[in-house]
Amino acid sequence: MSTIDPAAFRRFEHEGWQEIASRYHSGFAAVTTQSVSALLDAAQVRPGLRVLDVACGPGYVTAAAASRGAHAVGIDFSSEMIEEARGRYPGLEFREGDAEKLSFGDSEFGAVVSNFGMLHLGRPEIAIQEAHRVLRPGGRIAFTVWDTPDKALGFGIMISAIQRLGDLNVPIPPGPPFFRFSDPEECKRVLVAAGFGGPAVTHVPQVWQLESADALFDVMYHGSVRNAALLRAQKPEVLDKIRAEIRAGVDQHRNELPMPAVLATAQKEN
Ligand SMILES: C[S@@+](CC[C@H](N)C(=O)[O-])C[C@H]1O[C@@H](n2cnc3c(N)ncnc32)[C@H](O)[C@@H]1O
Repeated sequence: MSTIDPAAFRRFEHEGWQEIASRYHSGFAAVTTQSVSALLDAAQVRPGLRVLDVACGPGYVTAAAASRGAHAVGIDFSSEMIEEARGRYPGLEFREGDAEKLSFGDSEFGAVVSNFGMLHLGRPEIAIQEAHRVLRPGGRIAFTVWDTPDKALGFGIMISAIQRLGDLNVPIPPGPPFFRFSDPEECKRVLVAAGFGGPAVTHVPQVWQLESADALFDVMYHGSVRNAALLRAQKPEVLDKIRAEIRAGVDQHRNELPMPAVLATAQKEN
């Protein structure tokens, strides 16, 4: 097993997000936005609450929290993503910042949320500890990640195609397992270790309606980071076969893929 170098993984993710910031919306937003209201409900976001949206990307969660009357701020380590968010939601507060080193004081927020951010961090435990630090006692954390690939079929179809026809062990900077927090027990363990109480995990049913059977490959190849690197590292002659296999897999589901999310939440105890 390869050792994780969190700094190298962070650089790899950062370069990737800087490059694809403008394409992320057309690729993934249709599915990641489906869990926003469940995420905000879990964090009990309500009028007047100060809310931090970590790894905000184009700002969907920040905007939804603000439209509930909360005082929301979004942070992301990609300056390009922050530009996207500011362009999409002028008037809302977005700042460049690192999930693992929050530039906020202790106990500043009533809720910290992150929609599909945790699986991109080299040191997610540190981010969860940071969330705990900036929350006031009684405040809530909530985050979503993808469910396992047997259920989130967009990933399942792609991974099976690579496993069958290509190579999953290509030289890209290793990070924590992509599906680590798909395991409810692992979510609870890390939340409790950071000092949170009452951890709870639920599942959010989501469906990805793709425009065509080719769209899954295209979105993964052009609009993601780790999965794009995995595809780009395949031999060109093999990649064509992988693409055809992914297309067939999507076609079997008539371009509608189940993409459930795992939603974890907990409270900072008094
Ligand atoms: C899958 S996107 C999620 C975007 C958005 N939250 C949504 O609901 O679609 C992951 C985001 O995490 C950001 N990110 C990755 N590592 C980060 C870090 N260490 N600190 C802050 N943001 C980070 C990326 O720049 C990217 O915008």
